[in-house]
Amino acid sequence: MSLDASKWIPTHWTFRNSGVAEHFDQHVREQLPWYDLATNAVAHFGWHFIPRGGVVYDIGASTGNIGLALKETLEQRGARFIAIEESREMAARYNGPPKLAIADAATFDYEPFDFAVCFLVLMFLPVDTRATFLRRLESLIKPGGALVVVDKVQMPAGYLGTAFSRLTLQHKLAMGAQPVDILRKELSLAGYQRPLDAALLPGRAELFFQLGEFAGWIVVKPEH
Ligand SMILES: C[S@@+](CC[C@H](N)C(=O)[O-])C[C@H]1O[C@@H](n2cnc3c(N)ncnc32)[C@H](O)[C@@H]1O
Repeated sequence: MSLDASKWIPTHWTFRNSGVAEHFDQHVREQLPWYDLATNAVAHFGWHFIPRGGVVYDIGASTGNIGLALKETLEQRGARFIAIEESREMAARYNGPPKLAIADAATFDYEPFDFAVCFLVLMFLPVDTRATFLRRLESLIKPGGALVVVDKVQMPAGYLGTAFSRLTLQHKLAMGAQPVDILRKELSLAGYQRPLDAALLPGRAELFFQLGEFAGWIVVKPEH
């Protein structure tokens, strides 16, 4: 069912907006029908890669859905969890496990970690900061640990790229989004949401998910 998005979609997309924060959980599932499936895949990897007493980051946590999906593993392993979110409006809606740091993920003072997740966040970081940020994160993965990235990616050229974009459009319509709201949202993202260049990912990143414009990778740090 449509959420009458015309009432709250900002002209220029931002997460520093109480309307966006209020509607986020419903909106993301309307826009991305695979959202819960991919979130569950992240939880599955957490179950495999978070050791007893491990350190775990959820980078760009929004309302905390990744943390919620990891909660059982975090508790069972006695892991230390830090969610990072820069928007106070999103943070006010945070419903995941403690603790939440309201901070810029790009400049956050990370400690070496066992498991970190960038779920739909790199596409919102300034393009010229992404390579450095990814290199820094990779250097902080502990041996045997993992970094998971799920993001919008650059499209193949030509007709296949058109088909990929239309797949997303078709999903949104099928989930009940109104065409005018799909357009409004799409235009509002100009200059803020830019797809990730997958070539920035470390060479050993393994693809675990792709559907049209969106993909997910896991980077595992060798044990030696
Ligand atoms: C699409 S949402 C992420 C969804 C979330 N990871 C989830 O699983 O539901 C993008 C989030 O990243 C946050 N974000 C964007 N840039 C950030 C930054 N530099 N530091 C921290 N958070 C950031 C936004 O405020 C927003 O809440």
